[in-house]
Amino acid sequence: MSRLVIDGMKRLRGETCVQGSKNSALPILAAALLCGEESIIHNCPDLSDVSGSANILRYLGCNVSFSNGTLVCDSRGLCRTDIPNSLMREMRSSIIFLGALLGRTGAAQMSFPGGCEIGPRPIDLHLKALSELGADIKDEHGVFRCTAPNGLHGANISLSFPSVGATENIMICACTAEGTTVITNAAREPEICDLADYLNSCGASVSGAGEGTVIIEGVQKLHGTSHSVIPDRIAAATLLSCCASTGGRIRLNRTIPSHLGAVLSIFEECGCDVDIQGSSIVMDSPHRLSAPKIVRTMPYPGFPTDAQAPVMAMIAGARGTTLFVENIFENRYLHVSGLLRMGANIKVEGRVAVSQGVELLHGAEVEAMDLRGAAALITAGLGAEGRTTVEGLKYLDRGYENIEVTLSGLGGEVRRV
Ligand code: UD1
Repeated sequence: MSRLVIDGMKRLRGETCVQGSKNSALPILAAALLCGEESIIHNCPDLSDVSGSANILRYLGCNVSFSNGTLVCDSRGLCRTDIPNSLMREMRSSIIFLGALLGRTGAAQMSFPGGCEIGPRPIDLHLKALSELGADIKDEHGVFRCTAPNGLHGANISLSFPSVGATENIMICACTAEGTTVITNAAREPEICDLADYLNSCGASVSGAGEGTVIIEGVQKLHGTSHSVIPDRIAAATLLSCCASTGGRIRLNRTIPSHLGAVLSIFEECGCDVDIQGSSIVMDSPHRLSAPKIVRTMPYPGFPTDAQAPVMAMIAGARGTTLFVENIFENRYLHVSGLLRMGANIKVEGRVAVSQGVELLHGAEVEAMDLRGAAALITAGLGAEGRTTVEGLKYLDRGYENIEVTLSGLGGEVRRV
């Protein structure tokens, strides 16, 4: 089993490019099924979740190749509509194949999706919305059998919570449904806009993405396209957290700084100097950070839940107290036990965590329990005195492309053994 070995307290310096967005690439890969031709996806990150999606596409009969950051999916050969449990359990976002399969074939059979255990993660909003589009969904002991006996049709769908995945599933499924679909209280994340851009370049008619109301006019058929995935704002936030944890100065290239508004303001509150230069972010961090007063996770454009763990690790050694309120997932403090082993002073009560900054973290043997928690332990290890070993890298590899290589290039002492 591999693990990361980190020798801490090396100031990060230099520059690097940010990987393509995992959370954009995954729904786009599912949507590639819909177009029935070739999709060429550039800037696609090389991650185990991307391999998981490629394996689902191959199982369904698509031809998929991936090299040098470009994934090519030819979905002409689609020949089945079921996804086995073993592939569904690989990751949460496999649920997006439900809307894509229904949209393309009018049928789908799959089990409940897997993913990180950061809360119950129900799919009720997905199922309700797809039913409103005309799907008949039968839950047979955890296997969903879906058909569209009278075809799919547009609908007015109001989400009780702006779920990212549900918004994506509806957008994909509604593209070739008959008539107009209007999603109100839609998620506004940048990845929704990227999916809309991909779908529109395939000939779909999606408007309003990035706003609370998304409108999809059904079209007869989609066609192949070429699309470049947006930069990963969470990978960017993670690298900035790693930098600040070491009092470093780095330049991140190939970012979209406006996607990081709520995150950058927390870095500034911590005393970091953040300079936006076009698509680059230059950040200079002080020797010791000041603790921000409150970090409250919210749907976009609020502070992202995915950045909560690395930011908590970053400020574990800051001067002062920070209150964290996790409003998106119920169980998203899985990294805290590792941080405590490293000497952090953090108390968790339900959705709230209080971090009282300590003078200095010390290295320890820790194990990641989820993707962003893995990033948090690395962030903490970089700033800590002595050696940290991080296990549980299967989580890390779901979302970060060779992060140890990136961090080493910035002067961190991180290696995989
Ligand atoms: C996506 C992201 C994930 C991010 C999350 C929130 C991908 C691949 N993953 O996950 O990294 O942390 O958005 O920004 O893009 N909910 C329900 N019923 C549903 C669906 C969701 O109750 O049918 C709840 C969830 O349990 C959670 C909240 O809504 O409490 C947000 O979930 P959602 O926005 O759907 O997250 P994902 O799409 O799973």
